[in-house]
Amino acid sequence: MEKVVLISGSPRAEGNTMQILSRCAAKIEALGLESEIISLSGKSIAACTACRKCVELKKCVLPDSLNEIAEKVRAAKGFIIGSPVYFGTARGDLMNLLQRLGMVASANGRFLSWKVGGPIAIDRRGGSTATIQEMLMFFFINEMIVPGSFYWNIVFGREPGEALEDAEGVRTAERFAENVAKVILKLTAED
Ligand SMILES: Cc1cc2nc3c(=O)[nH]c(=O)nc-3n(C[C@H](O)[C@H](O)[C@H](O)COP(=O)(O)O)c2cc1C
Repeated sequence: MEKVVLISGSPRAEGNTMQILSRCAAKIEALGLESEIISLSGKSIAACTACRKCVELKKCVLPDSLNEIAEKVRAAKGFIIGSPVYFGTARGDLMNLLQRLGMVASANGRFLSWKVGGPIAIDRRGGSTATIQEMLMFFFINEMIVPGSFYWNIVFGREPGEALEDAEGVRTAERFAENVAKVILKLTAED
């Protein structure tokens, strides 16, 4: 069965990002796909050091969870990321993950190509469109397929639980997740 990996970039294990991604995962499973949410809560993902050792070793030499996460992403057909907005941008650890994942994927036959997914931004009030755009750069340079939704993938909320009260935001994120699953089903039916 095809799988979608979802990454919550929040340090809050049960925060808004995790709650929204859980709703997305439920929609994906309802369409018959597997899902796994990986939380960056409690993890520290270092920034790329540009050592380029991944080119020869086919994995990252930095001693954190990146290689383990990269293997899970590699095995999946879908890849969704959710980030809280921090000062108008995505959380640093999540961007660290994306940048190192991009390098490792490039060293391994560009394994991100044709995976289906995209970003979701969660914020209290401002910076979510810039954050979506920032995260989209990763998807497009890696030949990934990004479906749309009714609106941009933005959900409003500050304290944990508030994002679920943003009915339009939840509907938008859920629709996006369904579209990711449906594109995967179409693509794999043609294989
Ligand atoms: C360091 C920090 C910076 C933040 N910067 C912004 C911001 O620029 N714009 C905004 O609307 N909310 C901002 N917020 C609020 C969070 O985006 C918001 O609380 C979000 O729901 C957190 O998601 P989480 O519960 O998954 O961690 C910031 C929060 C923190 C901790």
